Amino acid sequence: MKSAYSVDVDEVRLNSTAGPSHSVAELTASCSTPFWLMNLDHVRARARRLKSALASLPVKIHYAVKANDHARVLSSLAAEGVGADVVSAGEAQLALAAGLEARHIIFSGVAKTRHELNFAFHSGLKQINVESLEELERIESMALEQSSQLRSPIALGLRLNPNVCPETHPYITTGFRENKFGMDEPAIREAVARLARSAAPLQLRGLSVHIGSQLLDLQAVDEALGISLRLQQQLRDQTSASAHMLWDRFDAGGGLGIRYDSEDETEETALIDDFAAHLGRHTQPLLQDGRLREIMIEPGRWLVARAGLLITEVQYVKRTPMKDFVIVDAGMNLLLRPTLYEAHHRISPLRVGAEQARQSFDVVGPICESSDFFARDRELPTPKAGDRLAIFDSGAYGRTMSSDYNRRGPAGEFFFADGQITG
Ligand code: LLP
Repeated sequence: MKSAYSVDVDEVRLNSTAGPSHSVAELTASCSTPFWLMNLDHVRARARRLKSALASLPVKIHYAVKANDHARVLSSLAAEGVGADVVSAGEAQLALAAGLEARHIIFSGVAKTRHELNFAFHSGLKQINVESLEELERIESMALEQSSQLRSPIALGLRLNPNVCPETHPYITTGFRENKFGMDEPAIREAVARLARSAAPLQLRGLSVHIGSQLLDLQAVDEALGISLRLQQQLRDQTSASAHMLWDRFDAGGGLGIRYDSEDETEETALIDDFAAHLGRHTQPLLQDGRLREIMIEPGRWLVARAGLLITEVQYVKRTPMKDFVIVDAGMNLLLRPTLYEAHHRISPLRVGAEQARQSFDVVGPICESSDFFARDRELPTPKAGDRLAIFDSGAYGRTMSSDYNRRGPAGEFFFADGQITG
């Protein structure tokens, strides 16, 4: 698979899956900075790659909308047959407005309000993933109250917290016992017992598990899949078959990472094949006896991160006795990841002159905080005011985490599809 963009000797180029590559500087010459550029060809190619890696399993992909919720991104993925994983009624409404069908939307998240649950009940979402016994109690009492108005039973998943600790930034692990997410095994057992005796119009479909994000080493994923699928099999065997204890689905969550330090996408593409192998091995016993019918996954970053650039213009190159700064017109308000997780994003001028000497800089934004940086001590071809820089791999958790702090206004958004740029 082609990389979304490549840094050639003298410029950044956008690679199209269908046609020739394009100079990003030329394609976007008339777009005012700062702006996001999404290569939608690449998003669709990723969805196809993921589907083909999982083709031997009954997998349905549900894109984690929080990674990038722009309608163009959602409809590109919907065109590839991808559903959605949402964590609020707001995200669900965006997905529906972009043309996704409610029956392909999973509702996750720890703090679903009554209003949001009502919305989920009546819009026919595919499944609600329950994160706590307290939430189950709320869902049960609401479903009982409304049983006469509900057209069909509400499909539930139970989110297991498998107590594994993947290698990633501590802010984005979710499957460790100290995290707020999911239920430990005793709580899951209690939830199952409660559902088994409930008279509410609820339907248990299976467990769900999501242990964290930006995972490149699949050891903890393997462990978590083993734990949750063994538990699903046990619980299924212990509960007598009934119309509301179906155990026909398993939700393996998202979390697949990308190599932010490299333009080369080979490693993360191969990761998908490993993931498919783990998923196949752990689900095999349940698939074989025919009760498990559907495996759901919820990738976000892997599908969209590479497709996005944040393009910004150098305002000043400020020299001080201690450090030299490249000050640009995009800030932490747009792309928070370096500030929040000390995340690395590659940066390159859109055009590089042969004579440009390389030097170490802090690349910083206009926001009135010293936490407003994109890179520290980064070696770059020495830029000048007016040059444009690309901040790579910004397609996931960029615009969705942005704010209007310091009131600089939103960034522009442009999309590449079918050989052309549109706004
Ligand atoms: N499913 C659930 C229940 C999730 O909470 C998440 C992400 C996903 C799926 C998708 O995970 P992904 O495939 O994108 O790793 N803002 C952070 C990432 C936070 C992820 C939150 N949950 C970042 O910029 O790295």
